[in-house]
Amino acid sequence: MTATRRRFLFELAAVTAALPAVTALVEATDAFEEHVRATDPMSLSDAYSLAKGVGYLNHASIGTIPTAVQEAHQKYLSTCESNPWLHMWGGVWDPLREEVRGLAARRLHCTTDEIAITRNTTEGFNLLAQGLPLGTGDEVVFSSLNHVGASACWSAQAKRRGFTVRSWDFPVDRVPTLDEDAVVALHTRQITERTRVLCLPEIDNLVGLRLPIARIAKAARSKGVRWIAVDGAQALGMVPVDVTAQGIDFYAASPHKWIQCPKGLGLFYARSAAQKALAPMIMTWGQDRWKGSARTFEDYGTRDLPALLALGDALRFQTRLDDSRAKTYASLRGHCREHVADHPKLTWCSAGDPRLAASLHAVGIEGTAAPAVADRLFKKHGFVVRPFRTAGLNALRVSPNLVNTRDELTRFFGALAKALA
Ligand SMILES: Cc1ncc(COP(=O)(O)O)c(C=O)c1O
Repeated sequence: MTATRRRFLFELAAVTAALPAVTALVEATDAFEEHVRATDPMSLSDAYSLAKGVGYLNHASIGTIPTAVQEAHQKYLSTCESNPWLHMWGGVWDPLREEVRGLAARRLHCTTDEIAITRNTTEGFNLLAQGLPLGTGDEVVFSSLNHVGASACWSAQAKRRGFTVRSWDFPVDRVPTLDEDAVVALHTRQITERTRVLCLPEIDNLVGLRLPIARIAKAARSKGVRWIAVDGAQALGMVPVDVTAQGIDFYAASPHKWIQCPKGLGLFYARSAAQKALAPMIMTWGQDRWKGSARTFEDYGTRDLPALLALGDALRFQTRLDDSRAKTYASLRGHCREHVADHPKLTWCSAGDPRLAASLHAVGIEGTAAPAVADRLFKKHGFVVRPFRTAGLNALRVSPNLVNTRDELTRFFGALAKALA
């Protein structure tokens, strides 16, 4: 048998093995879409395996995987174990891995050569902090809204290599009244002639402010910033992302949040013209074959390919729900705002301007420490939210996804009112 024929048979076997999973996924996604449009939204929960009695309002911390994607993942796992060498090293899964890259590239609006499949957002920013040519006289700038996963790596490298890191305090108390112009001005006034890297979250994890990235990037470029690096941990899967239109250089994301894929998978966009400046963080054999492609940045030896393939299923699942996403989030957000306005001890700490809003809301609480309230909400009522006592806030972060409903939010605010009584 020739090598080509052997390869063909391997690929055929792999694709055939994956087919039942793909078919089941399409059926389950169809059913889910119907649920989204249905008048009985409670049945949405059938598409997930959240425990009965759990009100999961913490999608910003970590996503819950649809059962159909879990099933696809399990299928890949057992297929892999039927012949681990063949699937991990024999190349039969190369086309499927590249299909996942294609889906990611379509989601982010870039080419497949600009996508690396990493482990998370933190890895993406570590790649940048370690791999960009920065030294004495250079400055990296970000605000206090930057997540530590996108900040700590810069400070560690700065000490060794002599560049400086400047973090400025974002006026979190002004978020409810800010408009786009004000947000752009806040960022651009921080840029100096030494600023080489501007680092910013598309949506932060505290108040969920959705930054007008394209406008900030344009202004930063005109002031001479060389690299613009965006943290998409919260944005990818929550809002449409177009890295090309945004005019940025790098984008790092954690699809295990809003894309709801298996935990420990990340996406990293590196604009092709910016890739030359970036050295890979991990060196291994044969990396030269990826020259001119962001695949260089994901090549760290043996990896979890079954989970990576399930990322493709998660991307397909989410893409099919895109039409209803913005409307559903706006409706859930409006509902939250009404409940907050109705309660004297609650304050809306997230954006007031809908263009700057996300599906991640900070609800300020008066009189009781937020962690104690969150603890009680979970233990007595099953609601999972994230408490924050930082940046002058004593708040609960409520981050609903498409699986959540207005009724569920009504019950949540009822439980919250009891906890504050
Ligand atoms: C805005 C933001 N950036 C980065 C991270 C870090 O994500 P990961 O642990 O997946 O790298 C998070 C996690 O919550 C986040 O919310």
